[in-house]
Amino acid sequence: MSDSRPIGVFDSGIGGLTVVKALRDLLPNEDIRYLGDTARVPYGPKSPETVQRYAVELAEMLMRKNAKALVVACNTVSSVALPSLTKKFSVPVIGVIEPGARAALQATRNRHIGVIGTRATIRSGAYEKALHASDNNVRISSRACPLLVPLIEEGLLNDDVTDRVIARYLEPLLCDGIDTLVLGCTHYPLLSPAIARSLGDRVKLVDSAINCALAVEQLLDEQSLRAGRSDRGELRVTLTDAADNFLSVAREALHLSFAEIELQPLP
Ligand code: DGL
Repeated sequence: MSDSRPIGVFDSGIGGLTVVKALRDLLPNEDIRYLGDTARVPYGPKSPETVQRYAVELAEMLMRKNAKALVVACNTVSSVALPSLTKKFSVPVIGVIEPGARAALQATRNRHIGVIGTRATIRSGAYEKALHASDNNVRISSRACPLLVPLIEEGLLNDDVTDRVIARYLEPLLCDGIDTLVLGCTHYPLLSPAIARSLGDRVKLVDSAINCALAVEQLLDEQSLRAGRSDRGELRVTLTDAADNFLSVAREALHLSFAEIELQPLP
């Protein structure tokens, strides 16, 4: 038995495409419907109530596209809205925090983990909760990096200014002695090379996008939701507003191609 409905994936903007890239590589038979809320990006500086409201609106749009599962490809939404989404929608809902936390616990040797993310994600303490739920003794140093999402949305992936901002954000975490850093925002894997350069080779990077894709694969298997083996999965994108850099970042940095791109302004 197979299920040809699409997997619904959403984020505030470009960031969730790092999860889409990981999903396309891991599950090439699956149709993916990606929704980027380019009209309202960034979510990081917004209140939990506002992010929760946006999340429900986006999930409803994807449910109207017949999604068989909802992938919250956004740490900000995952950290404040996952329980309400899980309660409201009948299909499985997968976030990025738990998979990222699990991978970080596997990677660390000195039990000192760094987490970077948006203000909303760091303020929520969601990674601390997820990490301490498995290991109460692990030490965590976290830092909000609010300038990184705008730099990425502007396409400044290889740029001196971005490098200097990264160095400034990461310095205190390095001084604390972390040996593992969770990229707690789905935009950040687009800066992995720059972040790795700044950290040197003593610190391991944990990419929440790849770990989320692995969790989706496991869920599809457990719930018999896989597409057919001979299906050729396609990627369809819906944006809530035009985004100048969206396509170039998607194509050049992530090598994604689209079967369809539509604009669907919010009501
Ligand atoms: N990519 C998102 C995250 O993982 C959201 C960034 C934002 O909109 O501020 O948190």
